[in-house]
Amino acid sequence: MSEPVLDVRDIHVAYGAVKALDGVSLHVLEGELVSLCGVNGAGKSTVLKAIAGVLKPVSGQILLAGQQIAGKVPEQVHRLGVSLVPEGREIFPSLTVAENLRIAAFGTYKAARFAADLEDVFGLFPILKERYRQPGGLLSGGEQQMLAIARGLMSHPTLLMLDEPSLGLSPNMVDSIFELIENLKGRGMTILLVEQNAERALQLADRAYLLSTGRLAFGGRPEEMGDLVDIASVYLGTHGEGSKP
Ligand SMILES: Nc1ncnc2c1ncn2[C@@H]1O[C@H](COP(=O)(O)OP(=O)(O)OP(=O)(O)O)[C@@H](O)[C@H]1O
Ligand SMILES: [Mg+2]
Repeated sequence: MSEPVLDVRDIHVAYGAVKALDGVSLHVLEGELVSLCGVNGAGKSTVLKAIAGVLKPVSGQILLAGQQIAGKVPEQVHRLGVSLVPEGREIFPSLTVAENLRIAAFGTYKAARFAADLEDVFGLFPILKERYRQPGGLLSGGEQQMLAIARGLMSHPTLLMLDEPSLGLSPNMVDSIFELIENLKGRGMTILLVEQNAERALQLADRAYLLSTGRLAFGGRPEEMGDLVDIASVYLGTHGEGSKP
């Protein structure tokens, strides 16, 4: 087995006195799409934020291609190859599509590459090319999600983390987002995906983890997770009984 792109070992994360992650370990191999599932409040976003350097674990290790990144600031982690597309997108609404993308490229590489990367991203998201000079805030929710993902891709990440990319989108747009994720996977991108739409996420995933109140309740093949827990029950929060650790 090759060295994991990402290897999270026994991380504990707290918000002040509130424990959010209680010993979470997971890994992502090169070219894998790994799904992280769990009910609201289980700690999924906290895992992604800890990896991205937004939150500092109380203890535990986070290795990126073998290098310790726990405790590094977000800019450093980003420079080392991790892109987080956060929950809620967080694009800059008053900046144009072009400016939003330019900001993503800032600091990570030479300006000369910007034009080529832009063409690449436009190949994936033709709608962004059409709306290049418009403020990001005028895009639809789905288009803003595309812009957020495009921004995450501009730095050529070795690990792309997506936090609930289909949340709040129309069914058509949800289809487009999943098509896009499949497309990125097809290009060999290494992806850690958090999704409310567990059924769709598990269809695409090579492996999956289930988080339950800050601990892992399952890690393995997606179809095994589907067998183990009724997907609907995960979202009602009634899973756990009878599921293996
Ligand atoms: N800034 C914060 N301060 C205090 N507690 C927080 C903070 N952010 C999250 N939490 C708590 O940490 C736990 C995990 O939150 P997290 O956002 O990681 O969950 P999640 O699985 O991403 O949920 P969702 O599906 O709703 O996005 C929750 O109990 C949440 O209330
Ligand atoms: Mg979340």
